[in-house]
Amino acid sequence: MIRVCSTEDVPKGTAISADVDGTEIAVVHGEDGNFYAVHDECSHAAVALSEGEVEGCTLECWLHGSRFDLRTGEPTGLPATEPVPVYPVEVRDGDIYVSLTPSNGVTR
Ligand code: FES
Repeated sequence: MIRVCSTEDVPKGTAISADVDGTEIAVVHGEDGNFYAVHDECSHAAVALSEGEVEGCTLECWLHGSRFDLRTGEPTGLPATEPVPVYPVEVRDGDIYVSLTPSNGVTR
């Protein structure tokens, strides 16, 4: 697990982007209170998901509006049809750690 940032860097309902050992990751604080990490690129086109809106435990792509479930990486609506990689997250002592091995088996 690699330390990415402090939990205070990601207020509830927001997302930030982070470079973790050369992998762009969107770290998201879901409205359910949990932290999530997904690859910071939409599976539909090369835009940053971290710039989209957080709703519940989904992250919406700002370009065409596909919403990705942060637990599974699956899009819940078109135009994206492919899931994005989801990275395991751990919170320890107020810091967020991620693993770069996707938990949903999706590689980029
Ligand atoms: S680029 Fe994300 S839905 Fe089209």
